[in-house]
Amino acid sequence: MKTPRSLFISFEGIDGSGKSTQCKMLYHELLDRGYSVYLFREPGGTSISEKIRDILLDKENEGMSPITEMLLYFASRNQLITEKLTPALEKGQIVLLDRFVDSTIAYQGFGRDLSLDSIRKVADVAIGEVRPDLTVLVDTPLETAEDRLDKKVLDRLEAENAGFKERTRNGYLQLAKEEPDRFLVLDGRRSIEELKEAVIRRVDKELEIES
Ligand code: TMP
Repeated sequence: MKTPRSLFISFEGIDGSGKSTQCKMLYHELLDRGYSVYLFREPGGTSISEKIRDILLDKENEGMSPITEMLLYFASRNQLITEKLTPALEKGQIVLLDRFVDSTIAYQGFGRDLSLDSIRKVADVAIGEVRPDLTVLVDTPLETAEDRLDKKVLDRLEAENAGFKERTRNGYLQLAKEEPDRFLVLDGRRSIEELKEAVIRRVDKELEIES
């Protein structure tokens, strides 16, 4: 088993962007190469966090306030960090996360219009200094993403209106502009294979730096 110094990579994008497919493809590629690698999804990744996920995505919880929603995402995240993420990184493993704190800033901050300042204050408590080494943003126009979602039953967040989703997408792009070194922004309209190659090219660079 190869063991680089720890590497933490998150995948971000609006629902239907194609980020989860890319996250899984990278996971299998790294496993095939003999790396010790973990993949978790957010919200989720621990049994407590999966229960919080159910509450968050349940369409019956229409009346959930934006602040309750934001706090629950951070509650799920803190549990994942404490139980799985930090121990894995401390052992020098690679951790891939399908979403992390940028999702909360994009969805609850830009999408729901919660103040970014209040989100960052909660982030201080819930995640401290934990940040990804690399964040892959799969940026996909709303129409393309919606076409992909058409085929499945939508959860509470996926069923949000177009304005919310457009604000979320723009929020991501703004975050990427603020931290160009951390973000790799890819055009989600490219083929799955092309995207995979672009992700691997960048991850290879990170692995060289780490070794
Ligand atoms: P998923 O479908 O990518 O697993 O994510 C679940 C939903 O939760 C998705 O619609 C995005 C949303 N979400 C937020 O609104 N804020 C967050 O912090 C996270 C992690 C996800």
